[in-house]
Amino acid sequence: MKRVLVVGGGGREHALVRALLRSPERPDLLAAPGNTGIARDRVPCFDVGAEDVDGLVRLARDEDAGLVVVGPEAPLVAGLVDALGDAGVRAFGPSAAAARIEGSKAYAKDLMRSVGVPTASYMVLRSRDEAEAQLPCASYPAVLKADVLAAGKGVIICEDEAEARAAVDAFFGQKRFGETEVVLEEHLVGEELSLLALCDGERAVPMAPAQDYKRIFDGDQGPNTGGMGSYSPVPGIDSDHARALALAIHQPVVDELRRRGAPYHGVLYAGLMMTADGPRTLEFNCRFGDPETQAILPRLRSDLLDLLERATEPGGLQDVEIEWSPRWAVTVVLASRGYPESSSKGDTIRGLSSIDSINTEVLHAGTAERGGQLVTAGGRVLNVTGLGGDPAEAREAAYAGADVIEFEGKQVRRDIAARAVVRLAAL
Ligand code: AMP
Ligand code: GLY
Repeated sequence: MKRVLVVGGGGREHALVRALLRSPERPDLLAAPGNTGIARDRVPCFDVGAEDVDGLVRLARDEDAGLVVVGPEAPLVAGLVDALGDAGVRAFGPSAAAARIEGSKAYAKDLMRSVGVPTASYMVLRSRDEAEAQLPCASYPAVLKADVLAAGKGVIICEDEAEARAAVDAFFGQKRFGETEVVLEEHLVGEELSLLALCDGERAVPMAPAQDYKRIFDGDQGPNTGGMGSYSPVPGIDSDHARALALAIHQPVVDELRRRGAPYHGVLYAGLMMTADGPRTLEFNCRFGDPETQAILPRLRSDLLDLLERATEPGGLQDVEIEWSPRWAVTVVLASRGYPESSSKGDTIRGLSSIDSINTEVLHAGTAERGGQLVTAGGRVLNVTGLGGDPAEAREAAYAGADVIEFEGKQVRRDIAARAVVRLAAL
């Protein structure tokens, strides 16, 4: 039997585990470090951190894993896939050289510019002095981004120069993200779209489109988070449109990285802004999106294991058509008190057992077990995905589930996919 090790321990990895459990190949799954939900699905979880490259290589060899599926970006950027390759273990995900597309925003921006992928105009600010000299000339709102992995939280949208000065102080003065350069970017307006593509080093095959919600409060207010909800598909983005976008956005990057000797294998996630002047790329990620994956994978009809294995082979995805259920999926994130600035731990979680499991999938992110009780253990605690024949039905299922789960300080955005309902009706 095929043994597959999933690396990571969030809602995204729980979604990957669930989709792999649906594979007709019935693989033997393992996770490191996994989480309480993954363990409750009877998948053995090993106490090896997702960033412990040596420990993960040892685990993969000891457990005779035939495939390692890497969820988070940090181990990819740190070279986990390269280290596994050196040890003779097949892994899904890009090499460190290819993962730089997420690891450095400045590198990604330069690469996009060199191959003509549309993106917001930008400049790299290398010091506080350089930043302060530029701020009076920038047009506002302006966007400032730390050039480090910051789990989606290193982006500050500044309405005016005073806010930009405060942001510059946070980056260069307080060093909130450590030593980092900062990217100053034009502020774009439009609908955001997350388009993930599976890549085999040569070709980018788009997955179903999704949209996520980055701000903590309804109506896109408050600070950015890792993601408070998502839905898939997206009104107005049919499969032809998704293919055209992947040809214009992902494929030039895949071609260029291959030319540079760093072929991209894995999933390439483009965060797009659909502006009045056409799509613009906000960022590339070298991994599945969280929480987009929780809305995308429940709709996948093809065998995820087969797709991931194909992506590890040069040209392995040739002629592959990914099949999707026509159902809609809406994912609502349940976050703990204080998120995203902090998070609260140890609050008892109730109500999970009363959820209708036919049209909802509950995935764990920051949970733990204490004395047989489920408790909170992180910022994003649980994800509830609802499925339905249209976005309204899927929302209803997701919120019905999210509302029966209770814990002290629970934060839930109430407007996930609300726009999808309206936009679909207007098409
Ligand atoms: P990023 O990590 O670069 O994707 O940025 C996180 C979020 O900040 C994005 O999903 C957008 O909501 C917002 N954002 C980033 N860049 C821009 C931009 N140039 N214009 C408007 N919003 C942006
Ligand atoms: N949902 C945003 C991300 O995964 O980066």
